[in-house]
Amino acid sequence: MSLLLLAIVILGCMMLILFQTGCYPQSKPCYLFKDSPGIPLVMLLMEVSVWFLMISFIFIGAVTNIAFSDSEQVPVHAMFVFGDSLTDPGNNNDLITGAKTNYPPHGIDFPKGTTGRACNGATMADHLGYLLGLGLIPAFSKTSMEGSNFSRGVNFASEAAGILNDTGFAFGDRFPMDRQIANLREKIIPELQKHIGRDITIEGFLAKSLFYSNIGTNDYQISYLNQPSYEPILYPVSTAYGDHLIEVYIAQLKELYNLGARKFLISALAPFGCIPYNISIYGRKNNKCVDKFNKLAREFNSKLKTTVQQLNKNLAGAYFLYWDLYNGMMEILDHSSRYGFKNTNTACCGAGHLNSRILCLQNVPFVCANRSEYFFWDSFHPSDATNAIVAKEAYEGILQDIYPMNVKQLLQL
Ligand SMILES: *[C@@H]1O[C@H](CO)[C@@H](O)[C@H](O)[C@H]1NC(C)=O
Ligand SMILES: *[C@@H]1O[C@H](CO)[C@@H](O)[C@H](O)[C@H]1NC(C)=O
Ligand SMILES: *[C@@H]1O[C@H](CO)[C@@H](O)[C@H](O)[C@H]1NC(C)=O
Ligand SMILES: *[C@@H]1O[C@H](CO)[C@@H](O)[C@H](O)[C@H]1NC(C)=O
Repeated sequence: MSLLLLAIVILGCMMLILFQTGCYPQSKPCYLFKDSPGIPLVMLLMEVSVWFLMISFIFIGAVTNIAFSDSEQVPVHAMFVFGDSLTDPGNNNDLITGAKTNYPPHGIDFPKGTTGRACNGATMADHLGYLLGLGLIPAFSKTSMEGSNFSRGVNFASEAAGILNDTGFAFGDRFPMDRQIANLREKIIPELQKHIGRDITIEGFLAKSLFYSNIGTNDYQISYLNQPSYEPILYPVSTAYGDHLIEVYIAQLKELYNLGARKFLISALAPFGCIPYNISIYGRKNNKCVDKFNKLAREFNSKLKTTVQQLNKNLAGAYFLYWDLYNGMMEILDHSSRYGFKNTNTACCGAGHLNSRILCLQNVPFVCANRSEYFFWDSFHPSDATNAIVAKEAYEGILQDIYPMNVKQLLQL
């Protein structure tokens, strides 16, 4: 079809050139070879080059089948998100739990207002969705609603959730990682064909989708580092605990692979020793990141990076990317002004020392004036501005940000 169109266009162009130069239908003298006074030949050459350029553009467009306007778009069907409060779009809103953020001032800068996101604006998953051209990925809790369409993917993330089932139990209900995967397997996959149309199989659809997982912070922050969870008693040494987490996480990622996932974006743990709440308790001397907590994140991350390399070797046809969120965030924290931040250890929303002694609660009037200057939105979560920067690093960053390639390159495979 496009070849036929191309042929017609080329023919048309040739006719036009001939008409314009007077070589056809010979009503004017033809300057192409003999008796040329000079200038018309130059004009002819210019004209020919312009036409040549136009034809080549049309030809490239026809051959590669890419529309010029969205040459930036990558070929991806959907994104499926697994995680905790860093990516939760409001899945806990209807659960019985203390871990929810569906009240103002959360969402103060978000187009849809307060949604349950623990942020002033968009999460890392939202920004990634924008970059992929998929827009906002619907929350799992909304997908059962009439008329909802999850052909762009589903976000299963849940505040207070972890890799382990028990993580966050003290807050109440939540979707641990195993439950998030079960929700995909039991609730979404059986429904998917209706949404994606008959001309593509579910396997084909999932293989061309991005599976983004960012989980594990809470297994340290609210489980390992706190009683009454029994994890520290079972695993008194942090490396043994890390090994246990990785073992469970590998089984979970393999389960996603068995369901048909092929393209994975696996986030490292963030430097959680830098959250304002903890600096205000443990880092008061210099108001700097608490390294004994960051060390736990680094320990887990180095195991995770090795795991990603192994999974790439062992699971045929799968591509796992390791997103170095830890160093990406440390780079911003260490060179904050380069990234437009004036504040890296203080919460935008909250009050007291580092705005962290009084938390960002419902209608607390303590919100900073210029939110884009703050790395942290509240005492625990990064701001929209931070999320936008790190998501871009995952999408088109260099090897230091994302290994062994970036998301954009992954999706072109
Ligand atoms: C979590 O709980 C589910 C359901 O009870 C169970 O199938 C799964 O094996 C548990 N996962 C872990 C890591 O203990
Ligand atoms: C869902 O949206 C996609 C893309 O916008 C569309 O092709 C599909 O028909 C929709 N499915 C339903 C069930 O509405
Ligand atoms: C921060 O401090 C709280 C309160 O002591 C503690 O429970 C939590 O584990 C710490 N979290 C991190 C990430 O350091
Ligand atoms: C907020 O801060 C950003 C970055 O420093 C700056 O560009 C912007 O003008 C500020 N906005 C207001 C309203 O002060």
